[in-house]
Amino acid sequence: MKRLVFPENFAWGAASASYQIEGAVRQDGRGESIWDRYCSVPGNIANGDTGDVACDHYNRFREDVALMKEMGLKAYRFSVAWPRVIPGGAGAVNTKGLDFYSRLTDELLAAGIEPYPTLYHWDLPQAMQDIGGWANPDMPGYFLEYAKAVMDCLGGRVKHWMTLNEPYCAAFLGNYEGRQAPGLRDFSTALRVAYYQYVGHGLAVRYFRESGLPGEIGIALNLMGRLPLSDCPADRDAAKRADGYLNRWFLDPIIRGTYPEDLVQWYTSKGVVLPPFKDEDLKLMSQKLDFIGLNYYNDFYVKDAPQVWPTGFKIENPRFVPVNDRDWPITEQGFTDMLLRMKNEYGIDRILITENGTATNEVENVDHAVEDPQRVDYLKRHIAAMHNAMEAGVNVTGYMQWSFSDNFEWGFGYNSRFGLVYVDFKTQKRIIKQSGKWYSGLIKNNALEL
Ligand code: NOJ
Repeated sequence: MKRLVFPENFAWGAASASYQIEGAVRQDGRGESIWDRYCSVPGNIANGDTGDVACDHYNRFREDVALMKEMGLKAYRFSVAWPRVIPGGAGAVNTKGLDFYSRLTDELLAAGIEPYPTLYHWDLPQAMQDIGGWANPDMPGYFLEYAKAVMDCLGGRVKHWMTLNEPYCAAFLGNYEGRQAPGLRDFSTALRVAYYQYVGHGLAVRYFRESGLPGEIGIALNLMGRLPLSDCPADRDAAKRADGYLNRWFLDPIIRGTYPEDLVQWYTSKGVVLPPFKDEDLKLMSQKLDFIGLNYYNDFYVKDAPQVWPTGFKIENPRFVPVNDRDWPITEQGFTDMLLRMKNEYGIDRILITENGTATNEVENVDHAVEDPQRVDYLKRHIAAMHNAMEAGVNVTGYMQWSFSDNFEWGFGYNSRFGLVYVDFKTQKRIIKQSGKWYSGLIKNNALEL
């Protein structure tokens, strides 16, 4: 048997996001978000699901925090909903909405669990989308006002902040592929959305530094390998473009204050309208962060596809690659590789795993237990892969499994389960899964046994 031991004070936790768990969309003055609007359009979400009720966490957070405590979690990553705090996006703060996060923070601290809030996990107030959303250059300023309200309220009690979650998805899945809110399909808009999210990020970081609040601030990026499907030069070039599209377009501005030149040229040659790339914006984007959050799920394979405008590639799984219930390849070596790359290529000196997990379709069995051996296997592989990177010198200080409980998985609705805790969405009953019990044991030992 192998025993992989982790550093003392390693932040073992789990993650979630407001719209995916809270429900209570009309409670205590919450405003409409782009996700409420997007879910109301037939055909957008599997089974016509919506986040209206979700896990009803807004009303059951004490029960959920008690479960986290029972499982021994040391940290909990959640997100704050902008439309609860400022229902119209800009203007008056809704004290009742903000107070929810204050109560949640207190409940976590009383349970000995460190709160790790993210300011923006995709639920933009609809009123902001009505004036152009993140493509509007005024949006960073509105985001700053919202961020100030949250930081001023929770600052001091909260010591670990993240500005944005997966700005790639918010930009490209929401505004180019149209399969997330707000459901637009325009590449140039997606690039502006990515850009102005980063300006907003920069303003929030600057405010945090100037405020003198204790603690640290970072961002959660989804960075995953893009491997050529074949060895032919066209596929290799396509993989490089796909890497630029997903990874470098988001790492370079944050770490180096630049955008990847090869992609800038490629997009220009395809007639894409690029964002303004102003020096002052790039300076804001590249302020030093205390950590980079990594959301890692899997690598994907890439094939050259000239017919796909403007990126010229598509994702395709090779035959016989092991996959999860969402057809995502299981590629733990890619996790080690990405961590090494972040250190060696980008000089990142501190990384927090802000998400890692897998979708499996388990059920409550006749004994009222939930067995999910595939998730346990996935977590073992990936936690060992992270340990390998740490042994090779990468400084990883915590790991947030995605997700604490089953929840509303965006376009897939409630049919794609990621939780350590099973949720029966008809009754809101929670059951700690086999994986949740296993993860508790790992936290207790601060070691992975293989
Ligand atoms: C990343 C996102 O941050 C989260 O909201 C989502 O549920 C998971 N990936 C799983 O797809």
